[in-house]
Amino acid sequence: AASAETPASAEIGVIGGSGLYSFLDDVTEVRVDTPYGPPSDSLFIGEIAGRRVAFLPRHGRGHHLPPHRINYRANLWALRSVGVRQVLGPCAVGGLRPEYGPGTLLVPDQFVDRTKGRAQTYFDGEPLPDGVVPHVVHVSPADPYCPVGREVALSAARGREWEPVDGGTLVVIEGPRFSTRAESRWHASMGWSVVGMTGHPEAVLARELELCYTSLALVTDLDAGTETGEGVSHSDVLKVFAANVDRLRTVLFDVVAGLPNTEARDCLCTQALGGWETGLALE
Ligand code: ADE
Repeated sequence: AASAETPASAEIGVIGGSGLYSFLDDVTEVRVDTPYGPPSDSLFIGEIAGRRVAFLPRHGRGHHLPPHRINYRANLWALRSVGVRQVLGPCAVGGLRPEYGPGTLLVPDQFVDRTKGRAQTYFDGEPLPDGVVPHVVHVSPADPYCPVGREVALSAARGREWEPVDGGTLVVIEGPRFSTRAESRWHASMGWSVVGMTGHPEAVLARELELCYTSLALVTDLDAGTETGEGVSHSDVLKVFAANVDRLRTVLFDVVAGLPNTEARDCLCTQALGGWETGLALE
C-alpha cells in the first residue's frame, strides 16, 4: 500500500484536453521533471475503482499552452515514469461530416498528421539523455491506437447510452488557427472524420514508450467546410465541451475501471519496440 514515503505511482494516465482541466477530487499533486523538460503541469494522482490514475491537463490547468507549444515528449515520459502503462487521450475535435455534430463521441482508429515540425520521437539519433549510444528506431503506427483500449472505450460509452462512432480518421492540424473552408472541404473529401490539433504526436510517442493509447474525440463543432458548418470559434469549442464534460468524465471513469491490469496487457502496444536495441531505460 502507498505510504507517505512511497513515491506516488499510477497505472493509467488521462491527458485532459480543452475544457477538461481537472478529473478527480481527491488527488496528490506530483511534480515530475523529465530529460525533455517539464510536462504541461503537475500530475494529479488519485484512484478510481481501485485503479491508480494520473491526470495531466494537456494545456496546463489554466490553458496556457497552445497545441504547438505542448511538450508531448515530456508529458508521455512523465506519465510513464510514475508507472503509467495505459493512456486515455480525450480531446476536442471538429466534425468533418454533417452527421458528426456537436456532442458526437468518436473513438478513432486512424490519424493523419498535418502538423509541422513537432518533436515526434524519442529516437532522433542523438544519445539519449541517460547516456547510451545514438538511437535510431522506427516504430509502426499502422494501427496507432490500442485495440483493447478502443473496445473498452466503446463499451463504456454505450453503457452510458452515448452511442459512439466506432472508428474514423482524426486529421491533426498544426493550429493554433482553425482550418480555412478549402482546407476543411479537402479534409472531408479525403474521407477523414474529425479534425483536431493535439492527437499527434501524442499517440506515436506513447507507442515509442510501449504504452497503450486510446483517443476519445468529442466533437465540439462542425468544421468550416461542412455543409452546415458556420466556421469555428474557440468559445464555441469550450461551450460545447463544457456541456458534455460531465458525461465524458463519467465515461472516462468507466473506461479506467474497464482497462486490463498492467500485467494483463497482451496487445501489440507492449511490443512496439520489439527487436530494436533502444537503450531507453524502460524496465
Ligand atoms: N478542436 C475543436 N474543434 C476543432 C476544429 N474545428 N479544428 C481543429 N481543432 C478543433
